[in-house]
Amino acid sequence: MLYSIPTIAAFASLAAAQRPNGTSICDYYTTALLKNNTAVNQMTLLTLLVNTAVIGNYTKPNVGITVPGILAKGKVNETEVDLLPYFIGGLVSSNRGNKAVSVNFLDDGGAVPLTLNKAANGTNSAQYRLLTHLYEYFGGLLGCSLQGQDGYPKYAGSNNMGSVHKFMGLSHAEVTYFITQVGLSAASFGVTTEDVTAVGTALNEAFGYICSPPASIPASEPKEPQAICQADDCPLAANAQCSAYDKVVEPATATSSAVATGSATKVAGQSGGPMATSGAEVGKEVGGVMGVVAAAGVFAMVL
Ligand SMILES: *[C@@H]1O[C@H](CO)[C@@H](O)[C@H](O)[C@H]1NC(C)=O
Ligand SMILES: *[C@@H]1O[C@H](CO)[C@@H](O)[C@H](O)[C@H]1NC(C)=O
Ligand SMILES: *[C@@H]1O[C@H](CO)[C@@H](O)[C@H](O)[C@H]1NC(C)=O
Ligand SMILES: *[C@@H]1O[C@H](CO)[C@@H](O)[C@H](O)[C@H]1NC(C)=O
Ligand SMILES: *[C@@H]1O[C@H](CO)[C@@H](O)[C@H](O)[C@H]1NC(C)=O
Repeated sequence: MLYSIPTIAAFASLAAAQRPNGTSICDYYTTALLKNNTAVNQMTLLTLLVNTAVIGNYTKPNVGITVPGILAKGKVNETEVDLLPYFIGGLVSSNRGNKAVSVNFLDDGGAVPLTLNKAANGTNSAQYRLLTHLYEYFGGLLGCSLQGQDGYPKYAGSNNMGSVHKFMGLSHAEVTYFITQVGLSAASFGVTTEDVTAVGTALNEAFGYICSPPASIPASEPKEPQAICQADDCPLAANAQCSAYDKVVEPATATSSAVATGSATKVAGQSGGPMATSGAEVGKEVGGVMGVVAAAGVFAMVL
């Protein structure tokens, strides 16, 4: 189905207007971009946002903001970042039953289905579960009011992000890179600078400080350790409660037999695909992402 998005004028006026205090980011931009605020459209918005953050901008045309994507190599300040090994089972870094294991999360089509606004080729794969979890988890963070209705389930995975990431030993630069891609993705759809900043700040405060005291995310859940930044160079949380976390162990490289290859490794090098974008410019963007001028645009996407 070809989705036509409101005209540049209609969208620009919406995006330029201030989001009303009582309207969540999810609801506001679902209406701005997809017109009808339905559960299915909220899910579509989160699919666009997450897929773009993961593989880089792929909708055409976009508003002129390049998103290299979480899977692309990049730089934060002078530090090189390469998160791909965490996604393709290159590291023994996933927590399964409190054991560190190597998981290939790009085992069901890699980037290709994401460019088709899907999570994976099929619905029974590590890739499908990770991507749908991201749509659902971020939907909660961004206040999707219709989540839980038909077509957009509520997140039902672990609400303990500290534990989920405990075998990754993620550094300040790695977490910053991830959050920056989410912010750039939002900006690439015309989300205002103010709202991009709000999302970036919220993500950083929730997950970016080592030893952050257990918190309820979402608010209805019990308090759990939430820090995703767990390496020594991560900024220390206010009211740090390091005893709530296990000692971080940097992940080992997975042995070659355990690493799935094929489509997954090709994701990064796909010629002309979204991953062809170099992440080299990201370092420059990190400081400036929150200052990105939100532009509005007309674009069409194939669903
Ligand atoms: C939202 O609330 C803040 C104070 O919390 C106020 O300054 C601002 O004008 C309000 N914005 C709108 C659009 O109502
Ligand atoms: C929005 O919903 C109305 C009523 O359900 C429907 O008639 C209309 O076609 C929908 N528009 C879009 C763009 O989905
Ligand atoms: C990503 O966005 C940039 C800036 O608008 C654009 O030049 C580039 O072609 C886009 N890449 C893809 C794969 O759509
Ligand atoms: C996923 O689907 C694409 C076509 O849409 C196909 O080229 C690719 O081989 C499939 N990959 C897997 C792992 O099923
Ligand atoms: C990057 O540099 C800025 C400015 O010095 C600093 O505030 C920020 O913490 C640095 N980020 C990382 C991930 O090193």
